Amino acid sequence: MKSPINVTITGAAGNIGYALAFRAATGAMFGPDQPVILRLLEIPPSMPSLTGVGMELEDCALPLLHDIVLTDNPAIGFRDTDYAALVGAKPRGKGMERKDLITENARIFSAQGRAINDNANADVRVLVVGNPANTNALIASANAPDLDKSQFTAMTRLDHNRAKSQLASKCNTLVTDVTRMTVWGNHSSTQHPDISNCLVGGKPALELVGRDWAIDHFIPRVQRRGAEVIQARGLSSAASAADAVAAHIRDWSMGTPDGDWVSMCVPSDGSYDIAEGIVFSYPVTCKAGQYKIVQGLEVDDFNMSRLRASEQELLGERAIIEDLL
Ligand code: NAD
Ligand code: LMR
Repeated sequence: MKSPINVTITGAAGNIGYALAFRAATGAMFGPDQPVILRLLEIPPSMPSLTGVGMELEDCALPLLHDIVLTDNPAIGFRDTDYAALVGAKPRGKGMERKDLITENARIFSAQGRAINDNANADVRVLVVGNPANTNALIASANAPDLDKSQFTAMTRLDHNRAKSQLASKCNTLVTDVTRMTVWGNHSSTQHPDISNCLVGGKPALELVGRDWAIDHFIPRVQRRGAEVIQARGLSSAASAADAVAAHIRDWSMGTPDGDWVSMCVPSDGSYDIAEGIVFSYPVTCKAGQYKIVQGLEVDDFNMSRLRASEQELLGERAIIEDLL
């Protein structure tokens, strides 16, 4: 058995956190031989509910769960942590865009960035889920000056998974046949799900489904899927989001499959001519806790115009929270 690692989940009494804590403790994120100490961070009003989450975790008698820390103190929540999923934040309701949450949620991430900087393991890996996730990741990273920017990412894995499912369904095949899916940009309605490099059963996806289907049906469906779920459930996605968190952290920590890549929001290094200083979703490969942006993909004028729209939106979000950077 390996030594246990510390895994922090913020907002652990909330809808996503509740589903995520059990995945983290059952091997879905770090493999079946990696024990964990769960550090579950909440705000004071949610501590009674968090106590119940702790009881349920205990009641599972999970072999990989070596300890549970329940706290509303960020210094304790992030102490020596190796992986942190920053989920705790307000979700949007019907008719809202994710960026409408910016003023309410942004301050959470400046405070947590500082607490991570001061308390976490120096190699910590952080995934920001709370919306607007890309800009919140930028805020957290800017407030953690002792850590490298590449240690902070945000989540478009749910969009990536949605895109794979939509394409597999259109091609009447399994998601396991779909490779090289890419979601570019912001986790917002300007995100750009792009199948131009995607393969289905080894064949180019565009040849199978056609450009018109991609532009008229696939792209808007994936862009608006979060809102579609809110419309249907009356609440934002939770189990699928928790599943995507587990997949993002699993691939970051244990690596992406050979010949394939995943979508992750990472600090732009200027790849694909995107401005530096924003957190942008790119196709990446991962190995042992490091990611690399996939280079050299062809991006035609249509696709580039969509990347630009998302880049502009992210620059606009950054301007709103400039005082927190
Ligand atoms: P929720 O309201 O069910 O739970 C949020 C929890 O966070 C609550 O328990 C609350 O007490 C806690 N919280 C609030 N402020 C906190 C703080 N400062 N520290 C610790 N905990 C805090 O919401 P949810 O459905 O779990 O969604 C959480 C966030 O995730 C929302 O912002 C939502 O929009 C976002 N989200 C992102 C994605 C994505 O793909 N990036 C997907 C789904 C949801
Ligand atoms: C999602 O994509 O489901 C989440 O970001 C929640 C939302 O607000 O759409």
